[in-house]
Amino acid sequence: MKKILIQFAHPALARSRMNAAMLRAVSGVDHVTVNDLYASYPDFQIDVEREKKLCEYHDVIIFQHPFYWYSTPSIMKEWLDLVLQHGWAYGSTGKALDGKLFLQAITAGGGEETYQTDGYNQFTLGELTSPYRATAHLCGMVWLPPFVVLGVHGGLNPEQMQAYAEEYKSCVLAIRDERIDINSVRRGDYLNSELTMGAIGGK
Ligand SMILES: Cc1cc2nc3c(=O)[nH]c(=O)nc-3n(C[C@H](O)[C@H](O)[C@H](O)COP(=O)(O)O)c2cc1C
Repeated sequence: MKKILIQFAHPALARSRMNAAMLRAVSGVDHVTVNDLYASYPDFQIDVEREKKLCEYHDVIIFQHPFYWYSTPSIMKEWLDLVLQHGWAYGSTGKALDGKLFLQAITAGGGEETYQTDGYNQFTLGELTSPYRATAHLCGMVWLPPFVVLGVHGGLNPEQMQAYAEEYKSCVLAIRDERIDINSVRRGDYLNSELTMGAIGGK
């Protein structure tokens, strides 16, 4: 079984609907650690040594967050800047993250149709998240496409949100239990797209 670290960032969890539901679905799952960055570091004073140890212990790192200004909430950028040190995460002697899996779990207000070249947001989610893909690559990690929930502002009802939360848990369990075909999943746009669900084996 793979050990999964969910690096969670939402600056207003009390007002969150989608991320809160996803977080509930994966909390307490065996071999899954949730690290709530805003709760741990409300003053942004990230404990770099603690974060490095967490990363070293786990096999999979998931960045779960709402999409904010086409990116992550700011604490995740601070985390990258402080934790991914030369000689630890990258560089000729920086092998701490080598071979670990990395993915994002993203919720966004805009719908799928807005994340197209000719759509309202002009760029695809794959293009907009490419700095994270490049970062994972630089650190020798195996990048997987993001788990995405789009169109949250379009008015997902509670049942739809719960369905997404369950789907998220299924993906997390499939990764933990090594039931995903990595090469096939990597060809899809989203971990939870119909294209890739066939690459995730049943329980
Ligand atoms: C500061 C801020 C920036 C946002 N930027 C984007 C954005 O760039 N693209 C988008 O689709 N939605 C954006 N949103 C909407 C959030 O992604 C959306 O509210 C969130 O995913 C809903 O999840 P939650 O219920 O867990 O809060 C933004 C929201 C805030 C507050």
